[in-house]
Amino acid sequence: KIYPVILSGGAGTRLWPLSRAAMPKQLLPLVSDRTMLQETVLRMAGQPEVQAPLVVCGNEHRFLVAEQLREIGVTPLAILLEPLGRNTAPAVAVAAYFLKAIDPEAMMLVLPADHVIDDLAAFHAAVGQAAVLAADGALATFGIVPTGPETGYGYIKSGPAVAGAEHGYQVDRFVEKPDLETAESFVSAGNYYWNSGMFLFRARSYLEELAEFKPAIASACEAAVRADSKDLDFFRLDEAAFTSSPSDSIDYAVMERTSHAVVVPADIGWSDVGSWSALHQVQARDANGNAVRGDVYLDDVSGSLVRAESRIVALVGVKDLVVVETKDAVLVAHKDQVQRVKQIVDHLKGKD
Ligand code: GDD
Ligand code: MG
Repeated sequence: KIYPVILSGGAGTRLWPLSRAAMPKQLLPLVSDRTMLQETVLRMAGQPEVQAPLVVCGNEHRFLVAEQLREIGVTPLAILLEPLGRNTAPAVAVAAYFLKAIDPEAMMLVLPADHVIDDLAAFHAAVGQAAVLAADGALATFGIVPTGPETGYGYIKSGPAVAGAEHGYQVDRFVEKPDLETAESFVSAGNYYWNSGMFLFRARSYLEELAEFKPAIASACEAAVRADSKDLDFFRLDEAAFTSSPSDSIDYAVMERTSHAVVVPADIGWSDVGSWSALHQVQARDANGNAVRGDVYLDDVSGSLVRAESRIVALVGVKDLVVVETKDAVLVAHKDQVQRVKQIVDHLKGKD
């Protein structure tokens, strides 16, 4: 049985001012009329072997998450509530302990709540491939052919084909977030994939590796799910235990170290909507390359993303801009500079 585990804990700061702590990007309808979380849940619903999803999110988002699931008619297996963020290694660990207690053979499909996947059939096929490998104890990743030397991703060097697998390769090396020079060398080498950030493995396979490489995370997370604290669909993790876990990502804590990783190449129209320029690329654009939402007036404008939430926004004679208007903040940036939006949020936080 495959249990989707949806990670819905990030802050999405590079999509400020739309994405806020109280309403992060995965809970917003960024690309379609449904929120990113809803899209993620619906992507796997009704597939063979696939069970009700488990969502892992911050306690402060519990009602939004529950309401968004209700809206699409999905009853979750549970919503695990983190008292605070400890990054993805612990988030996946508490889900794994929770699932292992219900089903010792449980396979978990870890899905970030903020990705776009265009080719659903190809995605389902890739999950099917990965499930075969994960059944044998592998930690399966989904490899995306890189389009450039992105430094915000993990890189996977594929090795020999896994015996008996149609499209699965052993992972020779997993390098999380390399520097630019290293990323460039990976891209020109040609046999590297981007890590999509989605994973498929048995809960116990992940926990065995975690206990070996990061025992402090494993023991804290095991203690955090021990308490019987289910309240409707909500499962409150033990605050003291979870807080005592070190903070680390699954990529650094486990994927860079394990020798059981495999990669399934996934040509699925994947994108991580991490920044305004990434969002511009996945949104529908007009003949001048503008992606527009809300009450917007454009005259001689091209290559821009313009979003009006509460007022009319007009642009004249400009190109390659990102303009995002919300009730209490407005962003104007060059499309090539949007990675720096994160610094605005850091700056504003410092002023509180
Ligand atoms: N529940 C929970 N708790 N979710 C979290 C937490 C947390 O503490 N931290 C992050 N997440 C969620 C984010 O919302 C996102 O959906 C997902 O987990 C991945 O976290 P990111 O912080 O976005 O990771 P990243 O983008 O830097 O890197 C990962 O994804 C890349 C592809 O998008 C890595 O797996 C890279 O290797 C990968 O290339
Ligand atoms: Mg991300």
